[in-house]
Amino acid sequence: MAFPERVTLVDVGPRDGLQNESRPVDTAHKVALVHHLQASGLREIEVTSFVSPKWVPQMADNAAVMAAIARPEGVRHSVLTPNLKGFEAALVSRPDEVVVFAAATEAFSQRNINCSIEESFERFRPVVAEAHRHGIKVRGAVSCALGCPYQGDVSADEVERVVRLMKHAGVDHCGIADTIGTGTPAKVQAAMARALKHYPLAEVSGHFHDTYGQALSNVYASLEMGIATFDASVGGLGGCPYAKGATGNVATEDVLYLLNGLGIETGIDIERLVDAAAAIAAALGRPVSSRVGKALLARRGRAES
Ligand code: HMG
Ligand code: MG
Repeated sequence: MAFPERVTLVDVGPRDGLQNESRPVDTAHKVALVHHLQASGLREIEVTSFVSPKWVPQMADNAAVMAAIARPEGVRHSVLTPNLKGFEAALVSRPDEVVVFAAATEAFSQRNINCSIEESFERFRPVVAEAHRHGIKVRGAVSCALGCPYQGDVSADEVERVVRLMKHAGVDHCGIADTIGTGTPAKVQAAMARALKHYPLAEVSGHFHDTYGQALSNVYASLEMGIATFDASVGGLGGCPYAKGATGNVATEDVLYLLNGLGIETGIDIERLVDAAAAIAAALGRPVSSRVGKALLARRGRAES
């Protein structure tokens, strides 16, 4: 299978990244982050989540962020909605897409959303129906598809079970998520192959956390299968509050550098993306941690001196 000519990067930094910050992040910084991402050419941004503020207080300003961001033509803004309550709250903000998430393991499902896998689908079905009634696309994420912090190893059969449930529930797109970043390329390809049994290539994506430094290899392994959509977080922000020790998603600028090197189109300007990484890092009071972000900022520093 040839590499895709064009790849869509979905920046999930404002949601997956900032949901994991221990200190509150000003709404204004979140809005500025979305604007920086838009300025870099990103056309898909996961902005926030409509989950319980008791469970994830970092996303409590969801509606305020959605109301404050500019909505330029051609940019799609998605939000997480775990249940109908979340969807109804999100609807006021006119998301272009909503994201439901189910775990590949019972243990993670209980910790993350306080119910079994089967029950989580009971909650999603009305979300999918309502979203479609409003013309809103539904993306699904299969969490812990490559490893679980509570169960350990996760089999391709377990992944396929949830992919099949997603398909039956009417979810439009299936993301294979490595929540704790333990996956390696052969395991990624096995999971992707199961997703591709139920979804077309254009509706399967990779969502790789970089805890074990494997995420870029996992992107490459997915590209080899023709997968052309990846979630990533600018600056490598984030983690998951219910997967202790899991670090952020692969950095968007690191993936972009890889794609640029392979001659794969994305429409994103890497220098402006690094501006976004630098701005949010400054707002959080720490240096940019991504490899490409650090390298390009250092090069700028040398050019100026
Ligand atoms: P629950 O306690 O089982 O739900 O939580 P409940 O229906 O019994 O409701 C309890 C309370 O929450 C009630 O309020 C509800 O009204 C309220 P109270 O009567 O106590 O005042 N509530 C809500 N409030 C706001 N928005 C809502 C909502 N739903 C109920 N949508 C629930 C179930 C799913 C809500 C909870 O477990 C939750 O919010 N969990 C947070 C999960 C989360 O955000 N995890 C991180 C994101 S997932 C992720 O990062 C993985 C991903 O990146 C892919 C990957 O890497 O794997 C996507
Ligand atoms: Mg995640």
